[in-house]
Amino acid sequence: MKVKIAPSVLSADFGKLNEEIASVAKHVDMIHIDVMDGHFVPNITIGPVVVKSIKTRLPLDTHLMIEHPQKYIKNFAAYSKIITIHYETCRRDLKKVVRYIKKQGCKAGVSINPATPLSKIYSVLRDVDMVLLMTVNPGFASQAFIKSVLPKIKYLRHIAPKLDIEVDGGVNQKTAKMCREAGANIFVAGSYIFGSNKRLSAIKSLRRAVS
Ligand code: DX5
Ligand code: ZN
Repeated sequence: MKVKIAPSVLSADFGKLNEEIASVAKHVDMIHIDVMDGHFVPNITIGPVVVKSIKTRLPLDTHLMIEHPQKYIKNFAAYSKIITIHYETCRRDLKKVVRYIKKQGCKAGVSINPATPLSKIYSVLRDVDMVLLMTVNPGFASQAFIKSVLPKIKYLRHIAPKLDIEVDGGVNQKTAKMCREAGANIFVAGSYIFGSNKRLSAIKSLRRAVS
């Protein structure tokens, strides 16, 4: 199972987004894009017009923290390799929304907040390409890692040995190691990478911790 590192641009300087991405691109596997609507989460970030302006060869891993994601998926799909939606925003329509993402030619991911039980997404585990387990409550960068998610990672790895499991929130050298040991293989890091004045060393230390 391939281990991947995906810096979150939420902690980058949006005024020079392409330069910021270029500063890490050679050393990472994907670029994580946090889309927030001020409804599902108490923060607003970017929409498809900004994602469209991103110039990189790396796959874009688009994390939709928005209500009614189905309304906007098409707009993000053209620029994304994978689109992840939150169970909490779809609930009964989850399977339908996952299918819709795939119909747009993207890989599909499903995410749950730290307090949401894993059982809520059992019905789509065979349909999704990735599960994103939030290790903070979504909305902001630089929050503290919630350790109680670790058993959830471990159990998910147990029931889905080949599934990509991504973790997002409070990921640093120490917490990434714990997540790796629990079974995660994709690591999103925002402030740990873009907040560092030694970005390449930060990435290297993450790689070391998870390999
Ligand atoms: C949180 C976002 C994360 C965030 C992570 O709602 O989904 O991707 O950018 O930031 P750090 O790594 O600083 O916790
Ligand atoms: Zn994210």
